[in-house]
Amino acid sequence: MKALVYGGPGKKSWEEKPRPTLQHPADAIVRISRTTICGTDLHILKGDVPEVTPGRILGHEGVGVVEETGAQVGNFKKGDHVLISCITSCAQCEYCKKGMYSHCLNGGWILGHLIDGTQAEYVRIPYADNSLYRIPEGMDEEALVMLSDILPTGFECGVLNGQIKPGDTVAIVGAGPVGLAALLTALFFTPAEIIMIDLDANRLEVSKKFGATRTLNSSTENVVEKIMQLTGNKGVDTAIEAVGVPATFELCQSIIAAGGRIANIGVHGKSAELHLETLWSRNITITTRLVDTVTTPMLLRTVASKKLNPSLLITHRFKLPEIIRAYDVFAQAGKEKTLKVILINE
Ligand SMILES: NC(=O)c1ccc[n+]([C@@H]2O[C@H](COP(=O)([O-])OP(=O)(O)OC[C@H]3O[C@@H](n4cnc5c(N)ncnc54)[C@H](O)[C@@H]3O)[C@@H](O)[C@H]2O)c1
Ligand SMILES: [Zn+2]
Ligand SMILES: [Zn+2]
Repeated sequence: MKALVYGGPGKKSWEEKPRPTLQHPADAIVRISRTTICGTDLHILKGDVPEVTPGRILGHEGVGVVEETGAQVGNFKKGDHVLISCITSCAQCEYCKKGMYSHCLNGGWILGHLIDGTQAEYVRIPYADNSLYRIPEGMDEEALVMLSDILPTGFECGVLNGQIKPGDTVAIVGAGPVGLAALLTALFFTPAEIIMIDLDANRLEVSKKFGATRTLNSSTENVVEKIMQLTGNKGVDTAIEAVGVPATFELCQSIIAAGGRIANIGVHGKSAELHLETLWSRNITITTRLVDTVTTPMLLRTVASKKLNPSLLITHRFKLPEIIRAYDVFAQAGKEKTLKVILINE
């Protein structure tokens, strides 16, 4: 089969690899029908994730059709259409039993990281019973690729941890796919205001179409001043950090209201300052989380009932063998106006 193979920092190629085979009775082999590229894949290619070793097939998102199952797999059989979770979970360890699949002692984020991933014609999924989700008949499978990672990430790490309630004022810093996924799922709770903050005018424009009540461009506006004006000097009830740099985490601290929640989503490579000298008395909560994907069944139902439309995030489509070009378009998100790209395995 063909696959996108990491060759060390800055190196990737679309090359021939052996088709995966069952290695454990709980495994399934899935033929990929649609996959995508994540910002995390770009981090890997920069060399920011050293556990990923040369020769690894990248990718942790996708949908496909079950090709083969091990003897212990009870929920799926050959021919089933499935959504692949970016998080592999055994359902049996201490963390899985707490619903913290991201910290599964036998899985977690391993796809396209510690084991071969989904940017290929076939992928091996360990603990298939708990790491795959059945796609109901007649659903738009392409849109469901957004449920492998970014929708549960925005929802669990941003919206749920941020405890958004009806009537709240919410700020989301970062209008990339993850920030926009937080925006789409924040709407479940009907906050009064959703303020999107980014440097990219196009992404802010998209945010308005998705339901943001206001947008602020931090390259041209004084965001803290504007938010204080908008909130009668109180600040926001929930600030979601969806960028992953010190400046945006510090911005969240400057705009949070007394009693508010800062929900961090961003993957941080550097330490950020924590302003306890001002925050100690403000009754605030700061949360962090690696996506667990425990809300995937709920998100699938909301997509099925058309309460959530994740296909809004798809801006480009390529055939799977054009993946190198797709990476370029994804990496040049500003110029190409890219959110998520879909790769089609015909
Ligand atoms: N916690 C988790 O489990 C988890 C899972 C997936 C992704 N993530 C992380 O979520 C973050 C967002 O992911 P994404 O795919 O949307 O990334 P992205 O790079 O596409 O989007 C980030 C956005 O932030 C904007 N931005 C950059 N600097 C800014 C600044 N100073 N002020 C305002 N906006 C700024 C960019 O213009 C961009 O639109 C990343 O850090 C990613 O690694 C976390
Ligand atoms: Zn991802
Ligand atoms: Zn587990």
